[in-house]
Amino acid sequence: MSENNTNHGGSMQEQSPDKMTHQGFFKKIKRMSPLEPSLGIARFLVVTLLFIGCFAYLDYRTATRPLLNRGVSWLGHAIPASAGGLSAEKQRLGFLDEGGDGCDIFDGNWVWDDGYPLYHSKDCSFIDPGFRCLENGRPDSFFTKWRWQPKACNLPRFDAKLVLEKLRNRRLAFVGDSLGRNQWESLLCMLASAVPDKSSIHEVNGSPITKHMGFLSFMFKDYNCTIEYYRAPFLVHQGRPPAGSPKGVKLSLRVDVMDLSSPKWENADVLVFNSGHWWNYEKTIREACYFQEGKEIKMEMTVETAYQKAIETFINWMHKKVNTSKTQVFFRTYAPVHYRGGDWRTGGSCHLEKLPDLGLLPVSSGNLSDVFFDVFSERSSISGSANLELLNVTDMAARRKDGHASIYYLEPGIGPASIRRQDCSHWCLPGVPDSWNELLYALFLKREQIRTQIQENQKLRSD
Ligand SMILES: *[C@@H]1O[C@H](CO)[C@@H](O)[C@H](O)[C@H]1NC(C)=O
Ligand SMILES: *[C@@H]1O[C@H](CO)[C@@H](O)[C@H](O)[C@H]1NC(C)=O
Ligand SMILES: *[C@@H]1O[C@H](CO)[C@@H](O)[C@H](O)[C@H]1NC(C)=O
Ligand SMILES: *[C@@H]1O[C@H](CO)[C@@H](O)[C@H](O)[C@H]1NC(C)=O
Repeated sequence: MSENNTNHGGSMQEQSPDKMTHQGFFKKIKRMSPLEPSLGIARFLVVTLLFIGCFAYLDYRTATRPLLNRGVSWLGHAIPASAGGLSAEKQRLGFLDEGGDGCDIFDGNWVWDDGYPLYHSKDCSFIDPGFRCLENGRPDSFFTKWRWQPKACNLPRFDAKLVLEKLRNRRLAFVGDSLGRNQWESLLCMLASAVPDKSSIHEVNGSPITKHMGFLSFMFKDYNCTIEYYRAPFLVHQGRPPAGSPKGVKLSLRVDVMDLSSPKWENADVLVFNSGHWWNYEKTIREACYFQEGKEIKMEMTVETAYQKAIETFINWMHKKVNTSKTQVFFRTYAPVHYRGGDWRTGGSCHLEKLPDLGLLPVSSGNLSDVFFDVFSERSSISGSANLELLNVTDMAARRKDGHASIYYLEPGIGPASIRRQDCSHWCLPGVPDSWNELLYALFLKREQIRTQIQENQKLRSD
């Protein structure tokens, strides 16, 4: 068993929100900095973090409790109260405890935790080269050390063995774009950390992990459990336009038809969808891909309208095809990109970002999120609770400008990419998607709790 795994081997023990003392934090930084190849950056970081740390410490000594509860403001950024090492904060309810389900686990803060990351990329063979930032030369590893702390409760500590046991003879599938793949690879590593014999995990068709596979499915043999990924960046079907379409139309997106791979995954036990990064002008209309409804190409349809229709198609599909008493369905919301001074083609950058935004961000996550939330809330009020659970990661991801692959997406030996060609949309692993999976874990266990309870009640009645 790997070293990091023993740290996390506890069962359903709650995470303490403030594991680390300030002294420990300073020591850690002192220990880390000589290892950093880039001393300049390291020194800058140490000074910055010491400053934040001192401030939080002073605050801890002098501030009153109500102030701590709100967090303090530092240069306009709130410092989360949980950074202050206050034992009273430990009394937060566990999310899985009775009454804990009232807690909004997406409302919280990033807190430094020395117990992270949950795995190391060099020990995990399931990661794309493009996400292996540390191996690809990223000099700072602070981005692996942040844990998501909900304001109103504690998350259960991730226990890979427990999930695998719960997923015995079951299937979990991610469906979406490469950000979904990013999260899928993260989950594979988190789960594999509890499997001593890595050769007991294999791709069912023997396919290698590469960027462009249509679908990949990893079997955890000892559990007869598969963790699958289906590439469907729009969730709806993309194909050839109908005969007689206007000239110049090369492709069509059928906003009223689900991706044709859907029969492969509609019976999975857990489904995690995402879609957003391809819904823009560049990846559709500029590529001569127009939107189709029924038999007709709608030349005038905007990307926002098409996205709205696609989400409606997705929700209708779910109601019609998915047995929601068996299958747990999640939709992971849009994960913002962080290009500063341009976009991915025009030299936008994020490679100098070393720290999260620790405060509340008044970010507008953009049109697509608004469109999604509008459709979602409208539909869930019409059709009961809709059985669709959100992994509402938009705000938490928005604060992690430090978590992207930036220039460290090329394999070791090739060296960092050009500063003009950065990846500020995918995330380094280990990193931010691990936290999404911890939230998925919490929600999954909650649902399992309810399922077991129902089964027990039924047994009691029939006995
Ligand atoms: C998503 O989470 C954010 C932050 O907690 C919250 O403001 C927003 O209302 C949530 N959206 C939905 C649809 O739950
Ligand atoms: C393995 O799991 C699948 C479902 O994912 C199930 O259909 C099959 O029966 C299981 N095999 C065994 C041997 O239990
Ligand atoms: C839905 O799933 C439940 C639980 O597995 C099962 O008992 C039920 O028969 C399924 N319903 C349909 C229509 O397949
Ligand atoms: C999207 O944002 C643009 C400006 O950023 C605005 O003009 C447009 O109306 C928005 N679309 C929707 C559907 O909100």
